[in-house]
Amino acid sequence: TAGDYQEPYRPQWHFSPPSGWMNDPNGLVYHQGEYHLFYQYYPDATRWGPMHWGHAVSRDLVHWQHLPIALAPDDKGYIFSGSIVADRLNTSGLGKDGVIPLVALFTYHDPKAAAQNTRNHESQGLAFSLDNGRSWQKYANNPVIPNPGETQDFRDPKVFWHAPSQHWIMALSVTDHVQFWRSKNLIDWQYQSSFGKGLGAQGGVWECPDLLPFTLPGSDQTHWALLLNLNPGGPQGGSGIQYFIGDFDGKTFSLDPDFANTLQSQEAVWLDHGADNYAGVTWSGVEDGRTLFIGWMSNWLYGQQLPTHPWRSSMTMPRTLDMVSTAQGLRLKSRPVAELESLRQPLSLTEHREANRLTMQSQTDIMQSEWWFEFRLPEQESILELIFSNELGEKLVLGVDKGQFYIDRSQAGRADFSEVFATKHRAPLIISDNALSIRLFLDHSAVEVFVNDGQLSMTERFFPSRPYTSLSISGRAELKQKQSYKLASIW
Ligand code: FRU
Repeated sequence: TAGDYQEPYRPQWHFSPPSGWMNDPNGLVYHQGEYHLFYQYYPDATRWGPMHWGHAVSRDLVHWQHLPIALAPDDKGYIFSGSIVADRLNTSGLGKDGVIPLVALFTYHDPKAAAQNTRNHESQGLAFSLDNGRSWQKYANNPVIPNPGETQDFRDPKVFWHAPSQHWIMALSVTDHVQFWRSKNLIDWQYQSSFGKGLGAQGGVWECPDLLPFTLPGSDQTHWALLLNLNPGGPQGGSGIQYFIGDFDGKTFSLDPDFANTLQSQEAVWLDHGADNYAGVTWSGVEDGRTLFIGWMSNWLYGQQLPTHPWRSSMTMPRTLDMVSTAQGLRLKSRPVAELESLRQPLSLTEHREANRLTMQSQTDIMQSEWWFEFRLPEQESILELIFSNELGEKLVLGVDKGQFYIDRSQAGRADFSEVFATKHRAPLIISDNALSIRLFLDHSAVEVFVNDGQLSMTERFFPSRPYTSLSISGRAELKQKQSYKLASIW
C-alpha cells in the first residue's frame, strides 16, 4: 500500500517515495520551469532490488509531485544511476518538430552476467523523452558505451556540455578512479583520460562522480570540483562524499597544487562529515547560476535496515554548493537552498535559564524545525553542547569539544536495527575570530547541520521513540543571537 506520509519517522519536508526502496538521486535536470528528480527505485520491497528510475518534479525545489516510474529494467539489465541533459541544439538528432529532447545516460547492470562474475556486466545506455520526461524511449542501439571488458565497476555516467571544447563530457566511475569520455552527439563516445588512482579516500568503490565548474566571487577564473562518492571508506564508515579541486581542459582533470598538498597531510576532503549523505550529485540545466545538489540521506552500512515502513530512504534537502577561498585553500561550502525559507512558521517556545544553561521547551514538538545560533567562543577550550530530547530521556547531542564539531546519536532513540548505528561522529572545525554559527534542521528522523555558513556540514539520521520537545544549550560559549522556526509539511 502506498504511504500516506503520516507514518512514524516519515520526513515531512524532505523528498521520500510513497512506498518501496529508494537510493541515489538520478537524472537531476532543470527544464522548462521544472526541477526533475529521478531516483534509484525498487517499488516491490523496502530493500534494494532490480533497479528502476522513480520520478518526481518540483517547481520550487520544495514541493514535489510524484510521477510514474520513468525507466524499468529490461533484458539488458537493471537501470543503475546516471544523469540527464536537455539537448537544446538537438546534437543527438533525437529531437522532433522542434521539441528539445531530454537525454538520459544511465548504467545497465546485467544481474545474470554479474552472477557469473563476467566482470563486464556494466555498460552505459541511453533513453530519451520528447514530452518533458513524462514518457521515455530507450535508444534502439544500446549500449552506447559497451564495457571495454574486465571492468567490474563501470558506472554512474554524469554528463554536461563543455562549451570551450564544444563537446559533451561524461564522468564515469571505474572502481578506484574516474574516466572522462566525450561526444559530439551523446551517442558516440570517445575515451579521453583517467583520474584518481591512488588519490584521496580509497577505502571502497568509487561511485557517482560529478565534475563542476565554479567561479570565485570577484574573479573570472574557473576552477573545477570533482565530487566523488565512495563506499565503504566514508568519513564515518560506510558511504561518503569526497571531492577534489583542480582544472579541466576538456580532456583531463588535473589536481590543484594546493589541493594536492592537502592530500599529503589528510586522507580526503569531505563534502559532508555526517554518516548519511551519499551518492550526491547536482542538477544540470540550472539557469540562475547556482550549483544545486541533493544526496541520498542514508548509508549502505545500515540503509536497508532503517525502521521505516512502507518506504525506505529519503533525500537530503536540496543545497547550493559554492567554492570559496580559505586559509586551507579552495574549498566547497554547502548551504540550504533559499526556497526552503518558504516553509518557515512561528515556533513557540518557553525559555528557562539556569546558570550556564538555556532550555527551550515546546508545547507540541520540535521534529520539524530550523534553528540558527551565533556563538562567541572563549580564547581557549571551547565546549558547547546542544541537546535535543524527549520525556524518555532520549537525546541527540551536537556540539564542540576537543576542537572538533560532533553529532552524538548514541542515545538518540531506536538503534536496535543495526550494531553500528548508535555512534558519535566527529568533524574538523575551523574557527576564525572566535565566532561560531550553527544552522540546523530537524525532520522527524534526520538532522542537517551547517556550521560557519556551510564550511562544515553534517547530515545524520536518528529514530527517537517519541518526538523531541526541548532543546537545551550549555557550555563555555556565549550565545549572541538565535532564531528558530517550525517548518511546514510539504506532503
Ligand atoms: C551508489 C550505487 C551506484 C549504482 C547504484 C545502484 O549507491 O551503488 O554506484 O549505480 O547505487 O543502485
